[in-house]
Amino acid sequence: MRHIDEETITQAVIASLSSCPDDRLRLLMTSLVQHLHAFGREVKLTEAEWYAAIEFLTDAGHITDDKRQEFILLSDTLGMSMLVTTLNNRKPKACTETTVLGPFYVAAAPIFDNGADISQGAKGIPCWVRGHVRDLDGHPVAGALMDIWQSDEDGFYDVQHADVPGPQARARLQTLADGGFHFRSVVATAYPIPHDGPVGKMLISTGRHPWRPAHVHFLIDAPGFERLVTQVFRSNDTFLDSDVVFGVRQTLVANWIEHPPGTSPDGDEISTPYYTLDFDFVLNRIPS
Ligand code: BEZ
Ligand code: FE
Repeated sequence: MRHIDEETITQAVIASLSSCPDDRLRLLMTSLVQHLHAFGREVKLTEAEWYAAIEFLTDAGHITDDKRQEFILLSDTLGMSMLVTTLNNRKPKACTETTVLGPFYVAAAPIFDNGADISQGAKGIPCWVRGHVRDLDGHPVAGALMDIWQSDEDGFYDVQHADVPGPQARARLQTLADGGFHFRSVVATAYPIPHDGPVGKMLISTGRHPWRPAHVHFLIDAPGFERLVTQVFRSNDTFLDSDVVFGVRQTLVANWIEHPPGTSPDGDEISTPYYTLDFDFVLNRIPS
């Protein structure tokens, strides 16, 4: 221990973990130390650079509270959230792909019946969303509980508006006997992730933008099936190929179809243009 040098330091740290009683923790820490040291060696890290990294993490800690989670944004923008999501959600190709949950999910959203207007006053062009939830054999999944949340026309979620008293464009509803669901909402728009903190600075200094393409979030739970956390993206969105959190999957991109004023899918007369979005989900059974 008294002659540790550039060559032996990594092994010395790994050896110090040898009596860690938790095998998994020892594996994680050993690999982390190996990769961290290899990174330092590979780039010949300077003291100023390492101090800047520590300052960055300190700033991330200072801006984080129960509403703002800068470390999740860091994980998202470095592709780590999507990597961990993908590693832990392998399933047959025909199942709907998983993507990141994001920071705007709120548990226990209000429950609506199918057909309801879940926008609850959120600003935006009306959009009727319809689809089915099925299993891999095409059988309907009835009674699946769907959580839905999305941005409004200004690119904000309800929880980001200081002056919005309750949930908007956020709901839970259950699929019908044929696995179908339908609701009215507003057209979700592209939005920048919160970028007024250290992660925003990192994006600017690395020549990146903070935008996510327009999407609607879905979290679907049904007994006997794996939970599905996903998003449906708007085709032709400018940011589909440069999503700041790397969450887009081609199978999740859908046409949001614009209609002229006329009879809405509810049968009402609507005097403004409106949109429809049709999307079906396929759940994976929990292996028995
Ligand atoms: C979202 O889609 O809501 C989101 C995901 C990652 C970071 C920020 C927002
Ligand atoms: Fe989102």
